Amino acid sequence: MNKFTSILVISSVALSFTYCSSGSKISKSSSNAAKGLKDYYKDYFLMGVAITPRNLKGEDSALIVNNFNSVTAENAMKMGPIHPKENEYFWKDADAIADFAKNQGLKMRGHTLCWHSQAPAWMFKDEKGDTVSKEVLLQRLKEHITTVVNRYKDRVYGWDVVNEVIDDRDSVFYRPSIWYKICGEDFIMKAFEYAHAADPKAILFYNDYNTENPKKREKIYQMVKKMKEKGIPIHAVGLQGHWSINNPPREELEKSINMFASLGLPVQVTELDVSVYGGRQGGQLSQGQRRDTTTVFTPEMEEPQREKYKMIFDVFRQHRDKVTGITFWNLYDRYTWLDGRGRKNFPLLFDINRQPKKAYWDVVNFTPEKAPANKQVL
Ligand code: XIL
Repeated sequence: MNKFTSILVISSVALSFTYCSSGSKISKSSSNAAKGLKDYYKDYFLMGVAITPRNLKGEDSALIVNNFNSVTAENAMKMGPIHPKENEYFWKDADAIADFAKNQGLKMRGHTLCWHSQAPAWMFKDEKGDTVSKEVLLQRLKEHITTVVNRYKDRVYGWDVVNEVIDDRDSVFYRPSIWYKICGEDFIMKAFEYAHAADPKAILFYNDYNTENPKKREKIYQMVKKMKEKGIPIHAVGLQGHWSINNPPREELEKSINMFASLGLPVQVTELDVSVYGGRQGGQLSQGQRRDTTTVFTPEMEEPQREKYKMIFDVFRQHRDKVTGITFWNLYDRYTWLDGRGRKNFPLLFDINRQPKKAYWDVVNFTPEKAPANKQVL
């Protein structure tokens, strides 16, 4: 399909949707409905996207429903936003996304129950302002996890239980976060136990970035292996997938998928984006790196990004017996969490006008395998 016809198809799809202001199902006429990402990949894995309440109406919601069969809340279920005070939860945004998912028949991943970032300050302090004991912190963690997991039991099929506890430095194993300083590694193990007790059916993930870095991957592998040996209810590994035009190399990505799968765990890519800039995690600036204020998506950005997308989806398809889901971190290039670092980024498959980019067609144009491999059904 050339660029012109693809634009026509997409526009006609947008027109065929009827928008509803409330929670009713967004319908599309079957006669001229174009295939979306989820349809091309229906025999492979779930296709997901991280969203905010802003995305739940109008053309954004149509783009979601046409292309994805799974959603994640970009921020709304994190500890700080959802549990701002000890005796106060803020459910509105998370409920809106979870209800949307249910009404539209989409699966939902829960993100995230325990993380050093976006955690509320009250969690770690007593009424005098002193740091709480390990017992108090674990009790608070239990209360938090039990309450949140219980509330979304009927809508969330799996949780990123613990996020980013492995350190990036080769010589340090665990990140010295406040959680770790107060509890040692016990908070990691306990978080999984609390989540499992609250919803025994939920698939429980450990989730991290830079999982293709050999040293960090080895540490994650060792931690997960130990958890499995101790009987901790961990069921899957999430590779965040904040990648860029020059990372990760194919061999390292394959090694990561194979290594975690060798522990008997399925793998998901939970936060995929491909930054158009080189550099660290998702193309964030490293110290001393020059700021680039380019605001146009140029062919110099597009070509290497297409290559990277082609490669990673080829790897995902090859490993479809181990990979159960791919989730993009944001919907289209108008807004990405990678903006606001002194430069605009364009890391997704839909452009700033919600149109599929060339990389989209690269990702969906593949020869389907005859017999999809068996794997754990979600
Ligand atoms: C990001 C959100 O996209 C931003 O809106 C927020 O300001 C910071 O967090 N790893 C994760 C995600 O697990 O929760 C992060 O999301 C991106 C990195």
